[in-house]
Amino acid sequence: MGLFSRFSLSRDMGIDLGTANTLVYVSGKGIVLQEPSVLAIDKSEKRAIALGTEAKKMLGRTPENVMALRPLRDGVIADFDSAELMLKHFMHKANEGKSLVLPRIVIGIPSGVTGVERRAMMDAAVHAGAREVYLIDEPVAAAIGAGLPVVEPTGNMIIDIGGGTTEVAVLSLQGTVLSESVRIAGDELTDSISQYMKKVHNLLIGERTAEEIKIRIGSAYPTRDDDQAVMEVRGLHLLSGLPRTVILKGPEIRESMSEPLSVIIEAVKRTLERTPPELAADIIDRGIMLAGGGALLKGLDTLISHETGIVTHVAGDPLSCVVLGTGRVLENFQQLERVFSGRSRTT
Ligand SMILES: Nc1ncnc2c1ncn2[C@@H]1O[C@H](COP(=O)(O)OP(=O)(O)OP(=O)(O)O)[C@@H](O)[C@H]1O
Ligand SMILES: [Mg+2]
Repeated sequence: MGLFSRFSLSRDMGIDLGTANTLVYVSGKGIVLQEPSVLAIDKSEKRAIALGTEAKKMLGRTPENVMALRPLRDGVIADFDSAELMLKHFMHKANEGKSLVLPRIVIGIPSGVTGVERRAMMDAAVHAGAREVYLIDEPVAAAIGAGLPVVEPTGNMIIDIGGGTTEVAVLSLQGTVLSESVRIAGDELTDSISQYMKKVHNLLIGERTAEEIKIRIGSAYPTRDDDQAVMEVRGLHLLSGLPRTVILKGPEIRESMSEPLSVIIEAVKRTLERTPPELAADIIDRGIMLAGGGALLKGLDTLISHETGIVTHVAGDPLSCVVLGTGRVLENFQQLERVFSGRSRTT
């Protein structure tokens, strides 16, 4: 027994299979993989030719026989076969081919999903080589990963703004007291920039360029150095049909994202309105925690504080909160067993 307790035969994994990014945590090691959830496949041979970072570079730049695709939409699996293929590759890479036994897997899932979507996630993990699959609501995992005391009888509010979904949840005693999930998040912010560029600057730009604009000069709330935020952007001019360079300023980009941002703010306000008074009092004391890549948008914490009157913090490493949470759960399996919202056994 001594031997087995010290040298686990399987490499248990915590996985955040996100719309934008997939992260894998290996028990006892930490985060071993963080890559875009993108797969490039050869259409004629129907096989994967690139994955993750390499495949993301191909988005919008593929020849006819190659297709770069994102198997997840709005936080859930949109294309089952490619999601499974991607998961299998990532699990294999994280495992480094060392383990002999199939791993136990804890995987995050948006809280608002249907039974069918849950089932699809579990099946994909099993087909990809998991021995047992445990599902955890992403807001719960994010809160654990952000270091919130979810085991205590205290109310905590977490907002996870990913690529496809924004989830707002109030947690207490290892569980979700209430939550709301809207399918508006980072990707919609990026989309609004693309649309704005078309409408106002007559410039066609790709998804990657729009995202870069958002990250470099985008913001949710005015700051003092707003005017300094400028960026040169290249795209295809719609009127002349030729490539052209345009200079963009921070404030116009903030303005272009105002619609999806207000949807996010409304979801936060609705959740606060539904929160039982004792828990609301806790949240006022403790503040709101922001996680997910969307939390990195400049000034988003200030906007939420301003709109709700509650102090808002950005988690230390917002992109990793969910996967860190799944890892903590793996490593404290007995204490945190109640956090799971679903499980499957194959053995
Ligand atoms: N510095 C930044 N500023 C603004 N947005 C950012 C920044 N860095 C990443 N993002 C955005 O964060 C989003 C990805 O976040 P994350 O990896 O948490 O999503 P995900 O977990 O894959 O998606 P989901 O949880 O919806 O399935 C993308 O829309 C990306 O553009
Ligand atoms: Mg996520």
